[in-house]
Amino acid sequence: MLNSRLLINGAAKDSQDSKRVVIKSPTDDREIGTTELASKMQVDEAYKSAKNALNTWTNIPLYEKYQIFKKISDELLQRKDEISKIISDEIAKPLKDSLTEVERSSEFILTVAETARALNNKSNIGDSMKGYQKYQKTSIVEMLPVGVVLCISPFNYPINLSVSKIAPALIGGNTVVFKPSSQGALSGYILAEIFNKYLPQGVINFVTGSGSEIGDYLITHELVNMINFTGSTEVGKHIKEISKVPYLLELGGKDFAIVSNKANIEKAVEQIIQGAFSYSGQRCTAIKAVLVGSGVYEQFVSMMKQETMKLTVGNPSDNTNITCLISMKAADYAEELANEAIDKGAKASWEPKRDNNLVYPLILEVTDSTSRILWEEQFAPILPIYKVNSLDEAIHLANKSKYGLQADVFTNDINEAFEMARKLEVGTVQINGKSDRGPDNFPFLGVKASGSGTQGIGESIRAMQREKVIVINL
Ligand code: G3H
Repeated sequence: MLNSRLLINGAAKDSQDSKRVVIKSPTDDREIGTTELASKMQVDEAYKSAKNALNTWTNIPLYEKYQIFKKISDELLQRKDEISKIISDEIAKPLKDSLTEVERSSEFILTVAETARALNNKSNIGDSMKGYQKYQKTSIVEMLPVGVVLCISPFNYPINLSVSKIAPALIGGNTVVFKPSSQGALSGYILAEIFNKYLPQGVINFVTGSGSEIGDYLITHELVNMINFTGSTEVGKHIKEISKVPYLLELGGKDFAIVSNKANIEKAVEQIIQGAFSYSGQRCTAIKAVLVGSGVYEQFVSMMKQETMKLTVGNPSDNTNITCLISMKAADYAEELANEAIDKGAKASWEPKRDNNLVYPLILEVTDSTSRILWEEQFAPILPIYKVNSLDEAIHLANKSKYGLQADVFTNDINEAFEMARKLEVGTVQINGKSDRGPDNFPFLGVKASGSGTQGIGESIRAMQREKVIVINL
């Protein structure tokens, strides 16, 4: 059993009201640990501690911050086996993917520090505007932290989507209050402990608790200066409504894959299988619907069924492709969407199968475009495929989605690829590849209901800073 605690002002604490919740493994319902339920007063303490640490941390030279980040990155990597096991236990992620997540996060931390060292401040000379003489006015633009950043991470990448917020926030001189999802808090706590071990007191604070108890309190707190959140579109919308400070939001995605009549079908199938089914479809960038040209439809569907049948189903420790979904509620929802599509005439590749929260992979040939599974985020290994008569129809359907994270275009015609890429209303279009957030140095953003602001490495650092302009008048 791993009992995560709160980290406030550098010290581990228990819940003030002695309230904690038991965390169970989604795979077998085994009790694997507990997390503390922070009180509002403890949230106040976490924010006060972050606020008090701000000045000291901001003024530590960047080179020293880089040295600290190197140690954090190293320790994370050294402990990858221990941490990946915890990830797999608490969120049922295949062990090899948990391991990749930890390795990726260690590299991310180091790259953030290296990138910050290479980011230069700039100066402007005023004579490009009417009425100003050369060198009469010169501005020096320094980048300052926004202050205390609230970092909220989701269950599906408890280390990587935490690091992708915490590291750029800290390197930019901010201090942090980190709130993970409850399912993911055990590995999140170890991550916070590692940061805390090398950082000055109070620079990182870790709180857990129920969203309904402390969620709004954290978001609207008088000491928060920015919110960096990844999670559902529903919660993101709520943050937009109640927050009084700037935010960076990574929300849901539908991530349509469009397969043209001119595609290399074998390659498209290989990529779509990975894109739709890795981590059982529980990724914002998972391919969640495929629109296929009528000329290749039969061939594509037949190959997709063959490859889907090869997916292994079982336990995270056995590295099967498909593992249990995060909860019964998630499995109920996926099943509801599949049944609704079947009721509307969709042809299932085989008899749908589910054991509690273990949902088996399924292909659904959807013929009624009003089927909810074409529009809602199933977050499960169930993939709808829909036949289109033209690429214009595909683009029209993809753009009808309320989401706008990524889309994939499979074609061997470069002109067609670029035409589609330019027309699709999403943050990123992948040509001949599955949707994906990485490599982590690429800008990553969602439009429409998929998010607000741009992440990346340089982008995330800058997103959590503000300009300070000093003007020299000669
Ligand atoms: O779930 C949302 C993640 O940002 C997806 O990241 O593309 O690395 O799986 P990924």
